[in-house]
Amino acid sequence: MDTNGLSGQVAVVTGASSGIGLAVARQLHTLGLRLVLTARSEDRLSRVCSELGAERMVADITDRDVPERLLAVALARFARCDVVINNAGAIEVGPIGSIDIDKVCAMVRVNVEAAYRVAYTFIRHFLRQGYGHVINVSSVLGTKVRPTAGAYAGTKFALEALSEALRMEVAGTQVSVTCIEPGLVLTELHRDWPVHPTAGMNIPHPLMPEDIARCVSFVLAQPRHVKIPRLMIVPAEHQI
Ligand SMILES: NC(=O)c1ccc[n+]([C@@H]2O[C@H](COP(=O)([O-])OP(=O)(O)OC[C@H]3O[C@@H](n4cnc5c(N)ncnc54)[C@H](OP(=O)(O)O)[C@@H]3O)[C@@H](O)[C@H]2O)c1
Repeated sequence: MDTNGLSGQVAVVTGASSGIGLAVARQLHTLGLRLVLTARSEDRLSRVCSELGAERMVADITDRDVPERLLAVALARFARCDVVINNAGAIEVGPIGSIDIDKVCAMVRVNVEAAYRVAYTFIRHFLRQGYGHVINVSSVLGTKVRPTAGAYAGTKFALEALSEALRMEVAGTQVSVTCIEPGLVLTELHRDWPVHPTAGMNIPHPLMPEDIARCVSFVLAQPRHVKIPRLMIVPAEHQI
């Protein structure tokens, strides 16, 4: 793959302790990027940071100063920042009668409030320096809804709306904004579901986190005159 000068660049990855964020971090490391990784799970994050020689920030992404601190760490350690993978996320679904409203609101803080802070913080920096790439991890449910998943879909619709407006604002610059829109990926996101979506949605072969990581590196490897605003990736059996 043409890696378009990616080696030596610096990426910040949120939600890097498991699933998609972890796979993306590993893929970017393979491509020669230097990394700042963040999540709450100290042990897991320490392990992946030692494995990849990455800088570590154990933090809750909903703390209001974390995005600025992440950028500061990247600049202090590596004297540059080229990419942010805005990936940390949570899911809360359920029927009207039983969905936990407090957990829904906690999800909104992670998927919307924190994701917005990360996006604005890094895109301001990228505009100041004249280049950079914001990759927002949205979902197929950033483009459509399902009964019982409206609140989660709403958080991803919100991220899609911000991404599209930011993309328009930075048109003509060397700053890029991309939404990655996965279908079902086998991660820990659904670990508490009584029926796992592989069974509930009859998708016996879900995507693997590495499938999403490969797509992220494809997006980053494009030449400067090419921008990819949205990339949807679905399992072969997914009827959407
Ligand atoms: N799996 C899917 O089918 C699927 C499909 C479409 C989109 N997505 C999106 O993909 C992204 C990654 O999810 P995943 O599937 O890889 O799930 P995952 O394995 O559960 O990973 C979620 C990551 O987000 C971090 N995180 C969650 N809440 C956080 C908080 N308050 N502060 C800091 N970090 C937090 C978690 O780390 P700690 O727990 O260590 O903090 C973890 O690293 C999410 O935005 C999700 O909506 C997933």
